[in-house]
This record gives sequence, structure tokens and C-alpha cells, in this order.
Amino acid sequence: MAKTYRVAVIAGDGIGREVVPEGVVALEAAARRYGFTLEWREFDWSCETYAKTGRMMPEDGIDQLRSFDAVFLGAVGYPGVPDHVSLWGLLIPLRRHFQQYINLRPVRLLAGVDTPLKNRAPGDIDFYVVRENNEGEYSEIGGRLFAGTENEMAMQEAVFTRRGCDRVMRYAFELAKTRKKHVTSATKSNGIIHTMPFWDERFAAVKKDYPEVKTDQFHIDILTAHFVRHPDWFDVVVGSNLFGDILSDLGPAVAGGIGIAPSANLNPERKFPSMFEPVHGSAPDIAGRNIANPIGTIWSAALMLDHFGSPQAARAVENAIELVCEKGPHTPDFGGKASTQDMGKAIAAAIGS
Ligand code: NAI
Ligand code: MG
Repeated sequence: MAKTYRVAVIAGDGIGREVVPEGVVALEAAARRYGFTLEWREFDWSCETYAKTGRMMPEDGIDQLRSFDAVFLGAVGYPGVPDHVSLWGLLIPLRRHFQQYINLRPVRLLAGVDTPLKNRAPGDIDFYVVRENNEGEYSEIGGRLFAGTENEMAMQEAVFTRRGCDRVMRYAFELAKTRKKHVTSATKSNGIIHTMPFWDERFAAVKKDYPEVKTDQFHIDILTAHFVRHPDWFDVVVGSNLFGDILSDLGPAVAGGIGIAPSANLNPERKFPSMFEPVHGSAPDIAGRNIANPIGTIWSAALMLDHFGSPQAARAVENAIELVCEKGPHTPDFGGKASTQDMGKAIAAAIGS
């Protein structure tokens, strides 16, 4: 019997609705070729739903998704709904309830893709950002006092637990073991004097279990400079929620643009569904024109296949992406005139052949 995977699809807002169908087409092509079946169920949760119902997703939204093998998400957020409402109404609750504590973002310069860096070729930029995805700086703890007065103040607590630090660091080390055996830690223990020295301590403790893996650490400020000047230094970079967030937009920017960057929100224990989504947002500036690059979404689909334990199918999707990067058709962000669908179809055709 062919294996069947049940996938919840939340296209969301803006270009999410244009790129997600292309991800579905690519996955269907992989399923046909590699002999598995996908069962899709669409959810219309979005800012539009929020405007109608006052909620990004229904009250029992988490429960509705619990039994799926994966969630495939486009992007959420649109002008008219404050970004913190869309983010905290959908994306963050899913990441937390499903304990998707790993946000995995590959940064790889593909053949045929332009990098803004001078003299860099594909092998030079090939690393992973492993971002802590459940705690850290993005906490709900805090509040405001004296609103609207001269004494108005806002406070926000960062939360770093030993369990939270150790598990994301261990994931980074395990990943490095399968690659160039090098983990870099993003820190800021000179300026942030409680949580970041704790992060460094946990990094020092965890790395003892991986003597075969080389390590280094940089303060986040100089680390961003190194991403630009020396992207070839990195293999696996592990960072807190905030630092990982910043690095995982910077990484794709040096590797050819936000439109092609993929990400996975993983619950490594597989107790809950993991979620796969492009790094980019809903791009209201180009939404509705069918010119969004679908590669970030299709590459995220490849990460889903890896998670399902189909590395062959995942590589086939990546190879197809690479082929179309080299030969076209290309959307305008890549200097071409193709539509989202043209590019998606070409990638799906390459997966199937
Ligand atoms: P964005 O990623 O949507 O767009 C940034 C720039 O990159 C825009 O100029 C856009 O046209 C371009 N771009 C993005 N994806 C592209 C693609 N596939 N092909 C070609 N060009 C592409 O980020 P922005 O403008 O900061 O945010 C827009 C909305 O999306 C906001 O409401 C924000 O909160 C939300 N957002 C949601 C995310 C998510 O759902 N995970 C992530 C980032 C932003
Ligand atoms: Mg981000």
C-alpha cells in the first residue's frame, strides 16, 4: 500500500495564495514519481477571515490541525490587520502548541541564482540557520504601565530555559554531524548580561557531547557582518528566536533573495505536526499579479518530504528547482517575465521527468 500523508494547507494572505498552489503541484509531481499519496485539506484562515470573524483561526483551530502529518503554510499578514494580530493569532500559537521548537532555514546559493556578493559561487554559500522557535525574546511576558501618560512604559521579558536551549543546540549539533561538522553559536553576552551568558554556558555544556564537531561563537552584530563577508565560514548556525529570525532573513538575502528561501518549523519528536512555509511574507506590494517567485514555497515542500522520510523525493524537488534557476522560466525578481504558474509548472515538470 502506498503511504498516504495528510497535509493541512493554509495559503493565508497575499502571495501566499499564489505560491502555495504551486507547492501543491510540485508535491503531487513528487508523489506520482515516488509512489506515495497526499491528502490535502484547505483552511481559509487569513486576515480576510479575521476581518469577517474577528479571529485568524477558529477557537478550536489547533485541535483541527492536530491529526495532520504536516501543515503547509503560505504567509499571513495584510495591511489593515496589525502584524502582531496576524502573527499571534495564527503562526505563533501553531509553532508553540505543536512544540515546533526548531525553525530550520537552509541558506544555499543555487546554480543559476545571482548573489549580491561579489565573486561567490554555489559551493561558497551552503549552511543552515537553526533558530529557537518557542521561547527566547518572543515571549508574552510583560506589559504596559501608565498608558497615555508621561510615565508610560513597556516591558518585555526574554525567557531562556535550560531545556529550550539544550534541545535546539543538540539539534544543531546532530545536523552538523551529517554535514561539515561545524556549529556556530549566535550570542550577545557582552550586552545582554543574564540570558546570553546562560545561552553561552549551555552551548559550552552541550558541545562537550560532540567532540567531533568544531565550534565557534560570535556576537550577533559581527556575525551579521561575517554572513556578508565570509558566508563560506558557516555550516550550522544556531541562534535564539530573535537572532535566528534576523540571521534567517539575512542568509537568504546573500543567497539570492527572500523569494526563494524555505523554512521548516519542526517538532522533532513528531508528537505534533510540523509546519513548512517560505521565509517571505504576503508581499502586498506584488500580491494579485501572479509574479511571486514560488521557489521558497516549493523548496519548503522539499523540506516536508525530508521530514516524511523521503530524501530521494526531496532531492528530486531541489534538483528541479536548481534546473529551473539555471534554465528558466524566471519570475521578475529573477529578471524574467514568467508568471508564478509558469515557473511552478516548469519545476513540477522537472520533478516528474
Ligand atoms: P515580505 O516578505 O512579504 O516582502 C518583502 C519584499 O520581498 C517585498 O518587496 C516583496 O515583494 C518581496 N518578495 C517577498 N516574497 C517574494 C516572492 N516570493 N517573489 C518575489 N518577491 C517577493 O515582507 P514584508 O513586506 O515585510 O511583510 C508583508 C506582510 O507579510 C506583513 O503583514 C508581515 O507581517 C507578513 N509576514 C508574514 C510572514 C509569515 O507568514 N511567516 C513572514 C514575513 C512577513
Ligand atoms: Mg522573519
